[in-house]
Amino acid sequence: MITIICAQIVIVKEYCRSPYKYKLSLSLDYFFSIFRVAISVCKAKIFSTSIKFFNQYKFFFWAIISMKKKLDILLEKKISTANNLLNNNNIKHHNSQFTVPSKNLYPHQWSWDSGWIVYGYCSLEQISKAEQEMISLFNYQWKNGLIPSIVFHSLEDDTYWPSPDIWNLSNDAKKLTSKSNMTGIVQPPIHAAACLKIYESNGNKIRGKEFLTKIYDKLFLWHSYLYKERDPNNEGLAFIRHPWESGMDNSPIWDSSLERIKIDEFKYSKYRTDNKKINSEERPTDITYERYIKLIEIFKENKYNEKEILNNSEFIIQDVLFNVLLLKSNYALNQIAEILDRKKDIVTTNKWINKTKKGLDKLYQDGFYYDYDMKINKLIKVKTITGLTPIMYSNKTEEIISVLKKEFIDIERDNYSISSLSRLDDKFDPINYWRGPMWINLTWLIISGLKDHDIKLAEKIQLNCIKKIETLGFYEYYNSLNNSGCGVNHFSWTAAIYICLILDIKF
Ligand code: GLC
Repeated sequence: MITIICAQIVIVKEYCRSPYKYKLSLSLDYFFSIFRVAISVCKAKIFSTSIKFFNQYKFFFWAIISMKKKLDILLEKKISTANNLLNNNNIKHHNSQFTVPSKNLYPHQWSWDSGWIVYGYCSLEQISKAEQEMISLFNYQWKNGLIPSIVFHSLEDDTYWPSPDIWNLSNDAKKLTSKSNMTGIVQPPIHAAACLKIYESNGNKIRGKEFLTKIYDKLFLWHSYLYKERDPNNEGLAFIRHPWESGMDNSPIWDSSLERIKIDEFKYSKYRTDNKKINSEERPTDITYERYIKLIEIFKENKYNEKEILNNSEFIIQDVLFNVLLLKSNYALNQIAEILDRKKDIVTTNKWINKTKKGLDKLYQDGFYYDYDMKINKLIKVKTITGLTPIMYSNKTEEIISVLKKEFIDIERDNYSISSLSRLDDKFDPINYWRGPMWINLTWLIISGLKDHDIKLAEKIQLNCIKKIETLGFYEYYNSLNNSGCGVNHFSWTAAIYICLILDIKF
């Protein structure tokens, strides 16, 4: 009987702890207060009671059990909404199976989106889908190791622009790849971390190892490419050569570098589809789009040769987030090399870890992390969410948390939506893409790092995300000042990460 009572106490304690349960405990406060009283009564009597006592309080035990059942049903319902969304966005095409970020706005496979989405599938124990997601992407790896930012598995849906022909890979990158239905740029390297997560979530370790064996060489080649082709000064920091490579497309970080690209005539922006599907105030400007495409022209002129691009383009930047994710993935790759007993690679991945850790120090100045413009050899002193992401690894966490509290949330107004740009920046705009709104993926990354330093604050931010999603829907991003969703609805990574948030899973 004591065991039963203890078990109930553990269950209730557990339910009161994490934010999801905290939220429930708010709405069900009345019931819980009764249980808490009942439990304290039981606790006090545990040693001096008998079966008679149990009989006397059996109503409370029954109530706790039935409450747990109700909570489980509620939890299942919430999870199934997100699961349905992911299923609906999951596409089978010939030998590929992948998840589109949004059927309406992004109807193809995006590289880092797939990484975030894998975390959702792993939490749902849908291992095979998670494996397929990565395999379908890595089938499009270039000979030099590049993993494209978008794969256009099917060309049936041609509503997305820029379409594959803009990249002209069949002519300009023919030495590097025989396929042409993809882009010629990358996105942040989250993949090795996602693949390790898939292995860890697989109850069948033999099957798990089979998957790792299948994907390992490709992951290793991907990281080798980043160090060989994107780190010319051997600093442990990979550069990006297009804003889209950062995943934070129109962040104000890029403004000053992009302004060096001269636009004489508006040639391309008329083909845009994004600002016709979504309120244009929430999207990048036309001049920014002209510059995005001008950069692609430079890649083509230089036949996608990284050294030539480095010399001939105005946009070469070492981004904090990109390299934080590279570091996280290096740790994962190192662990995978251990699992597969690849001795030489264990040494190499350790070297990469140390190099990138040291490299990140170069990006730190006066209490914050900034991107570095390699064309003018200067830090870009704009405070954006990218600068908060080293919270996962840095020894400067106190400084990061202090800026987070002062500039990215508004504790006084009880606003815990982490904005993508400092609220004190002149360019702050709560609804425009990466220039102010809250994004769920990076918020989850920050919550995960913050949990080791300020659990209360982390839980408040987590609870805020959960509430936003539950009241507004699975939006691409959220107004960081008011209660509204922005961009597209039914967005895959928001659903995937929502599952991780309510199950209290760390990135
Ligand atoms: C937007 C986001 C980018 C994401 C893509 C697909 O372009 O800025 O990070 O990968 O949409 O969801």
